[in-house]
Amino acid sequence: MYWTSRQPWASLDLVTVLDGRPVDKAPRRRGKLRRLWSSTIGKKAVMGVTGAVLLLYVTVHMLSNLKAFISPANLDGYAVWLRRLLDGLLGYEGFVWVVRIVLSLSVLLHMVAAFQLARRARAARPAGYQHRPKIQGGYAARTLRWGGVIIALFLVYHLLDLTTGDVNPHGVHGAVYANVVASFSRWYVTLFYALAVIALGFHLRHGLWSGLQSLGASTAARQRIIQRIALGYSLFLTIGFLSVPVAVLTGILR
Ligand code: HEM
Repeated sequence: MYWTSRQPWASLDLVTVLDGRPVDKAPRRRGKLRRLWSSTIGKKAVMGVTGAVLLLYVTVHMLSNLKAFISPANLDGYAVWLRRLLDGLLGYEGFVWVVRIVLSLSVLLHMVAAFQLARRARAARPAGYQHRPKIQGGYAARTLRWGGVIIALFLVYHLLDLTTGDVNPHGVHGAVYANVVASFSRWYVTLFYALAVIALGFHLRHGLWSGLQSLGASTAARQRIIQRIALGYSLFLTIGFLSVPVAVLTGILR
């Protein structure tokens, strides 16, 4: 009988097969963390935890972007407030740097674990095994992979646009609202952001779906609830993110 990595019990077996030795013969001195990282289940846990950190960040980021609808001063003031947060302890912008480091590590670990899990799943698929069952199959995996690549490329542009200001027509440090308006006044930039945010929506939907599922979706009814939560939450984030660029392009924000 051939097993695919999508069968629930297969992940533990993969460790055995791919490490080329039985699990119980793993070197005893390897630290617990290293052993966890080298196991398939450990990598899935890392994906879940880093995914949750990133999800928390994008949720807070989306909600704080909505401050643009209150007033330009409100958005600009929020940026100053963030940089002064805990400044007695961490210095000016110290908190922002802590967040940046945590985010960068999370993105890196999330991507490396995803890449390695995909490689393991491919290696475990027996050659010539043509008719693998289509369980939550190729479509979700492809969306996650390509969505991830688009989001990574978007992030590079986004940082050069609204953090460093290098590719922003206004690009004045601290003038957050004016930078946002200058950027999204160009339809092609808004289009690019819209595509990236929609890719993020698909990525979150599938990521949330698989993350929540591994926490427990034993019945069809539970699966349906999980699917709805994943869809609802990713729509909430996508629409929230889209609102600011679209409002600028349509002249609601200027
Ligand atoms: C499409 C709507 C979006 C708008 C209007 C927007 C707006 C902004 C602005 C104004 C900044 C600079 C903030 C500051 O200097 O204080 C920023 C930074 C940032 N944004 Fe976004 N953003 C959007 C989408 C996203 C998405 C979808 C992500 C993640 C996938 C993201 C991730 C980031 C990151 C990581 C930073 C850098 C924060 C830092 O280290 O200073 N943004 N964004």
